[in-house]
Amino acid sequence: MRENNVSTQDIIRILGNGKRKAYVRSFGCQLNVSDGEKIKGVLKEVGYSFTDDENEADIIILNTCAVRESAEDRVFGIIGSMKKLKEKKPSLIIGLAGCMTAQEHICEKIRKSYPQVDFVMGTSAINALPALLFDCLKGKKFSADISEYDDFSENVVQVRESSFKASVPIMFGCNNFCTYCIVPYVRGRERSRRPEDIIKEVRQLVSDGYKEIMLLGQNVNSYGNDLESGMSFPHLLRELNGIDGDFIIRFMSSHPKDASEELINTIFECEKVAKHLHLPLQSGSNSVLERMNRRYTAEQYLKIVDYIRNRDPEFSLTTDLIVGFPNETDEEFENTLDIIKRVKYDNIYSFIYSRRTGTKAADIKDMTPENVKSQRMRKLLEVQREISTEHYKRFIGRKMRVLVDGVSKKRTGYMTGKSNEFIISEFEGDISLMGKFVEIEITDAMNWAVTGRII
Ligand code: SAM
Ligand code: SF4
Ligand code: F3S
Repeated sequence: MRENNVSTQDIIRILGNGKRKAYVRSFGCQLNVSDGEKIKGVLKEVGYSFTDDENEADIIILNTCAVRESAEDRVFGIIGSMKKLKEKKPSLIIGLAGCMTAQEHICEKIRKSYPQVDFVMGTSAINALPALLFDCLKGKKFSADISEYDDFSENVVQVRESSFKASVPIMFGCNNFCTYCIVPYVRGRERSRRPEDIIKEVRQLVSDGYKEIMLLGQNVNSYGNDLESGMSFPHLLRELNGIDGDFIIRFMSSHPKDASEELINTIFECEKVAKHLHLPLQSGSNSVLERMNRRYTAEQYLKIVDYIRNRDPEFSLTTDLIVGFPNETDEEFENTLDIIKRVKYDNIYSFIYSRRTGTKAADIKDMTPENVKSQRMRKLLEVQREISTEHYKRFIGRKMRVLVDGVSKKRTGYMTGKSNEFIISEFEGDISLMGKFVEIEITDAMNWAVTGRII
């Protein structure tokens, strides 16, 4: 039996004072990355420091994603390659966390075929990590705790990746059961954090100098539905907008079925809320949307877009799209292209449908050949590339305030930034600008970003 209620002191006692290093790698969405920062928080508390090189690690935790098969295959590949590491260093502890591990069949596969893995923890069992670690240190062969989503890890100190951009989960889980999606099965039902905890966290982050706050949830528009206080997402946005300081509030994702006029009005009225909406469409065809259980039609979706664009014709919109949902016809795919041309998104995130065991769509016999799906994906990207090129050209000559957030991977001596509207830019500069707001003038445009110079 696994020991319960293990304290950090119990672990520190076994670990002693030696210097130990942890390698923690998160896959998938920003919510998972945020969990990874909490995992690091727990490890830091028991004395680990961190490394980006798995060869020098004493503990490796892979925080996994299950959204598409390719994500799972990638992790299995990495675990396979870690067998050698373990042979070289038998004291190495290897743990798996995240969405993959919340599926019984995956846990079984790991237990049977990957003996190098010491423990497996589910998506919300971050507080179980000390006990799992304790088991390993005491020599137990394989421990698993994928207990139900028992807490929000409210008191865990996060080791954040960035000193100026912070993710703040406002809710966990999902109630929507889109037929293709594994998330409701691995993350459970919607649970909203208490507004006072969120407000306190954001206030602290702002006073620590954070410039961008990203509120996260699978469907932020249903935030508060499970709370007695009656706090809604627009209300929460207004509360956060009232916090003093120079910072931007972003959020994702917004389910179109719950995107209200009140939400749009709130975005326009709150000066700190970014003028950008990520509104996942998934498909432009009503028949596919119905088979996906998305619970909106293309017409209802376009009504929201029109409401936004009537207030600001240039308002920035991005979306998620799935190509090749089982038995998607040419005509249904054309419907998606039509909407893309009509909405003119700033950017799209498109995925070829991936069959997920346990979801409703996994039972559909899919007659669409894989090469047709790949062709559709190429066509989709080609159409969007033309739209983006046109779109970005119109910024030439304009000024933009951007938060400097990285070093350009393409051009030496250049930094990257993001505007309030989520437009990516590149401009000459050095690392000293990182995390600061700068004003740039746009001099050129590519199909994914603009180039500018600092004014
Ligand atoms: N809750 C968010 C929403 O509804 O927009 C989405 C979260 S999901 C982690 C991110 C995106 O992955 C989805 O919007 C969808 O486009 C894509 N996705 C989810 N399941 C998929 C699947 N089985 N195959 C391909 N793409 C998938
Ligand atoms: Fe998945 Fe749909 Fe929930 Fe998004 S809203 S997480 S796509 S089930
Ligand atoms: Fe996120 Fe992947 Fe899980 S997208 S919620 S980490 S399945």
